[in-house]
Amino acid sequence: HESCLILAVETSCDETSVAVVKDGKEVLSNLIASQVETHKAFGGVVPEVASRKHVENITLMLEEAVRKAGISLQDLSAIAVTQGPGLVGALLVGVVAATSLAMALNKPLIGTHHIAGHIYANRLVADMEYPCMALVVSGGHTELVYMKSEGHFEVIGRTRDDAVGEAYDKVARAIGYPYPGGPHVDRLALEAEEAVELPRVWLEPESYDFSFSGLKSAVLNVVNQRKMRGEPIMESAIARGFQESVVEVLVTKAIRAVRAYNAKQLLLCGGVAANRGLRRELERQCREEGIELIIPPFEYCTDNAAMIGAAAYLKWKKRQFAGLDLRAMPQFSL
Ligand code: KG4
Ligand code: ZN
Repeated sequence: HESCLILAVETSCDETSVAVVKDGKEVLSNLIASQVETHKAFGGVVPEVASRKHVENITLMLEEAVRKAGISLQDLSAIAVTQGPGLVGALLVGVVAATSLAMALNKPLIGTHHIAGHIYANRLVADMEYPCMALVVSGGHTELVYMKSEGHFEVIGRTRDDAVGEAYDKVARAIGYPYPGGPHVDRLALEAEEAVELPRVWLEPESYDFSFSGLKSAVLNVVNQRKMRGEPIMESAIARGFQESVVEVLVTKAIRAVRAYNAKQLLLCGGVAANRGLRRELERQCREEGIELIIPPFEYCTDNAAMIGAAAYLKWKKRQFAGLDLRAMPQFSL
């Protein structure tokens, strides 16, 4: 079989990443320049700053990813890039870089959906079996995606307001922790001896949608009340109460979806897949229910270009190439 080397570029948010992936599975290089330190001062991602940082990093990273992979540019089978969704200015940097390279090298260009990337990150570590269900949880996304077969995505549930990672970051900020706050809340929650009672938001009984803004507001109310009364905030009890609510809703809906759609596997993806409380509870319930659960290692859960290379490979096999007029799509449905 014809071997395939894809150079993949991901710049949809605050990580500049370039990877070389062989046959959609073998990661020859995966460089990630995180801008977390830059955005920390602002308490979140500033789009203008993100674009500028991508511009600063991208050229050197392209060279370095190819060098590290031990290949030459002419060996490449295709250039892939995240087309969307994401921040428009950030996406454009990757799109322009990938398009120019494809033109200069006369190689095919492949546009990839960011969420397809998160889902196909699982191909880097396991064989995906269809039909399967993916729970995508990150700073920008909270989605349950049903895949009947390869390349077929059906979003059966999504957040109606905040993404789960975004809620984590806001709760962290309210109890005094810096961006990105998810890991702090996770740690506090697991250390806590007690939990503040907080609501579970299920929405309509049949719905696979999520809502986290009410829960976030409930946390802010508790914090403000305690501040006003001069009481201790008890941030670990708040973190635990918040995490228990989030995890219970995510796990319950994901498992119900797996059952309802007869999925053979449950895939967990996105930055919040690093959450230990979520992993533990999913692992426990999947074991009990006999569901195969796949969670990629952390470096493939957060934004990275290797996952874009994995997703692009499937398009390469079908020769689904883009023209050089490929556009960044800030709003892009799966
Ligand atoms: O996938 P990602 O790197 O970027 C986006 O595409 O959004 O996800 C980043 C998000 C942040 O909101 C961060 O707080 C959250 O993932 N996160 C966590 C944990 N580690 C990262 N949330 C909860 N628990 C964690 N351990
Ligand atoms: Zn992402």
